[in-house]
Amino acid sequence: MQAEDHVSCLKTDSLKTNGPCRVLVGVTGSVASLKLPILVSELLQLPKVDVKVVTTEHAKHFYNPEEVSVNIYSDNDEWEHWTQRSDPVLHIELRRWADLFVIAPLDANTLGKIANGICDNLLTCVVRAWDTSRPLLFCPAMNTAMWQHPVTAQQVSRLTEFGYVEIPCITKELVCGDKGKGGMAEVSTIVSVVQKYLQKADESSQNTHTSHPDIEPQST
Ligand SMILES: Cc1cc2nc3c(=O)[nH]c(=O)nc-3n(C[C@H](O)[C@H](O)[C@H](O)COP(=O)(O)O)c2cc1C
Repeated sequence: MQAEDHVSCLKTDSLKTNGPCRVLVGVTGSVASLKLPILVSELLQLPKVDVKVVTTEHAKHFYNPEEVSVNIYSDNDEWEHWTQRSDPVLHIELRRWADLFVIAPLDANTLGKIANGICDNLLTCVVRAWDTSRPLLFCPAMNTAMWQHPVTAQQVSRLTEFGYVEIPCITKELVCGDKGKGGMAEVSTIVSVVQKYLQKADESSQNTHTSHPDIEPQST
C-alpha cells in the first residue's frame, strides 16, 4: 500500500466500531528490534486483532520491513502527508486508531524522552498525545550498564506514575556479549500481556457500552 493511502485510510479506520482490537506496536533503536517481525506475526495470531507499527529512524536498522506484514509508519509519513488544514495529522490519527500501544523494545534514549515529555518524532508524539485511559505497555531493552545507571529506575518509575505498564526486562547474554539484566522480555511474554489488557479493555467496554472514547456520539 502507498504511504499516502495508508495514512488517509487511518482516518476511516478510526471510525469503525465493534471491529478488531487495534494494537499499535512502537519500535525504537535497540537491537531487540530484530524481533519486530516475530512480534507482529504472533500478535496477529490473537483473535480479532489488527496491528500497525510506528518506528523510530534508528529502529529501522534492525529489521527488514519486507518481513513485517502490516503498515509501518515513520517520521517521513508524518511530515510528507501534511500540507494543508484538511490533511490528517498522523500522530493524532494513530492515537485515535489504537486501542493499545505496546513499545517493544523501548530503548534508553526514548525512555528518557518519554519520561521528560519530549516529543520530537512520530513515536514520541503518539505517546505525548496518548489517551491515558487506554493501555500503554513498554518493554525496556538496553545494555546492562545502561540499565544499572540510576537514571533508568527514575525514568521507569516516571512512566509507571503516568499509568503506563512495564513489561520488565530479563537477564540474559546480550547481543553485545555482556551478561546481565537489560534484555527485552520474551515475545511470548509480551504477547500474553497484550492479550490480557485487550481482554480487560473488551470487558470494560461491554460493561460500560462505550465502544471508543473518541467516537462517542456528541450530545446535542
Ligand atoms: C548496534 C546497536 C545496538 C543498540 N542497542 C541498543 C539497545 O539495546 N538499547 C538501547 O537503549 N540503545 C541501543 N543502541 C543505541 C540507540 O540506537 C541510540 O541511543 C539511538 O539514538 C536511539 O534512537 P531512538 O530512541 O530514536 O530509536 C544501540 C545502538 C547500536 C548502534
